[in-house]
Amino acid sequence: MSDLKATVSETIDGFHVEGYEKIEYDFTFLDGVFEPQNPQLANLYERWGRCLAVMDRNIYVLYGDRMQKYFDHHGLELKIHQTMIGEKAKSLETFTSIVDSMTDFGIIRKEPVLVVGGGLVTDVAGFACAAYRRNTNYIRIPTTVIGLIDASVSIKVAVNYGNYKNRLGAYHAPMHTFLDFGFLRTLPEAQVRNGFAELIKISSCAHLRTFDLLDEFCERLIATKFGRSTDDKGEVKKAADEINRNGIYEMLKLETPNLHEIGLDRVIAYGHTWSPLHELTPPVPLRHGHAISIDMAYSATLANNRGLLSDDEHRRLLNLFSRAGLSMDHDLFNEEILDKATQAILKTRDGLLRAAVPSPLGSCKFLNDVTNEEMFAALRRHKKLMKEYPRVGAGVEAYVDASDTGYTINNKPVDPQTHAQKLVTGIDGKEKKSVFSDGILNGFREIAVNGYPNGLRN
Ligand SMILES: NC(=O)c1ccc[n+]([C@@H]2O[C@H](COP(=O)([O-])OP(=O)(O)OC[C@H]3O[C@@H](n4cnc5c(N)ncnc54)[C@H](O)[C@@H]3O)[C@@H](O)[C@H]2O)c1
Ligand SMILES: [Zn+2]
Repeated sequence: MSDLKATVSETIDGFHVEGYEKIEYDFTFLDGVFEPQNPQLANLYERWGRCLAVMDRNIYVLYGDRMQKYFDHHGLELKIHQTMIGEKAKSLETFTSIVDSMTDFGIIRKEPVLVVGGGLVTDVAGFACAAYRRNTNYIRIPTTVIGLIDASVSIKVAVNYGNYKNRLGAYHAPMHTFLDFGFLRTLPEAQVRNGFAELIKISSCAHLRTFDLLDEFCERLIATKFGRSTDDKGEVKKAADEINRNGIYEMLKLETPNLHEIGLDRVIAYGHTWSPLHELTPPVPLRHGHAISIDMAYSATLANNRGLLSDDEHRRLLNLFSRAGLSMDHDLFNEEILDKATQAILKTRDGLLRAAVPSPLGSCKFLNDVTNEEMFAALRRHKKLMKEYPRVGAGVEAYVDASDTGYTINNKPVDPQTHAQKLVTGIDGKEKKSVFSDGILNGFREIAVNGYPNGLRN
């Protein structure tokens, strides 16, 4: 939520306006946000007596009943706008269909829209709220690891446009975010792993204790979905809770730029220097988490070559990526790609490479003076090292599939042609025109290929 305070004064030839916007928003950790005995969410809707929810259709299928019972229990009317979501549907059409539902519902000033789903739905619905009457409140309930520890930590909201990722967007803080890791119980393992990469990123460059915990519990965290899918005496859940709390806190401290003027040297850009290009280089694009892991693993080898990261720490990091099933290398990650990616990132980072590397583990240094010779030598050594690792450094389920593009129902791929007219349901229950008409990967690739204006995915 934000609040604008401004003053106006006269100048000799006109006026001067000066103002600042206060931004405040809260996060609440709460497993079981839709359990009737937990009133926290209902309390925020009590004064309105009703709620408009925008949600990912997959989440609706899994959690819609539970959610309806929750609102019934608390005597609140619930209307749901369901949307199929995916990179291809992170579009102006989806945005306007949400806007239509807000109008049909008659959302009134200050009444918050509830947004439930992964980073895609929170981004597009958050943007609809930013634009609706120039500013409408919303409450977020992220349901993926990426959503919980990354997308919902930031106040950036956006849609893809004109084949550019996140080209239209805003900074729009929600009123409140509920962090319910219980949703991970149903999240496919490949999506859990994808988010795990962002946790390795933040911990290896900013919080050693979190890295130690990821290292200790790696396989169990992924297999038990952060301790939510099986009861293992609570040990994994306890570690997960500490990891998530510290990881999110570090992200918030680093990414509130008005409080910490950090400019273009961004710790959270570790793994995001060369990855924007090689993410899209294979015939089927890599998942974001795998692309950044290749970049992180390679950058660690570069740092080790320079003596910035000790042999032990370098190996610890590579072992962790490998154990997590994350990619550390790819056949098409070669000198040509490195060179091209370097040229691209120099443009977006104001002429400096600003490659974040962990040094030592748990803190970060930025490299600006890396020559092509040095990069290529590090690449040769990195590829040699990969021969010692399982799968020669390749990842598990490393490529995007229909679940990343928006062509799934209950995590099963659907044919975009047959479902073309059935993907969006407004609150009037009517199915609205959707935007799915072309091939899955073409759509994904077109959107992503031009879309990294600041050298980061977001
Ligand atoms: N705003 C930001 O700062 C920011 C940061 C990071 C990422 N993002 C954006 O987030 C998007 C990626 O988000 P994501 O990785 O969360 O993907 P997503 O929202 O597409 O979700 C991935 C898949 O998991 C399904 N799903 C979601 N929650 C589930 C659950 N609990 N159980 C079962 N299935 C579930 C979805 O239906 C989808 O098929 C990208 O568009 C990226 O640009 C934004
Ligand atoms: Zn990222």
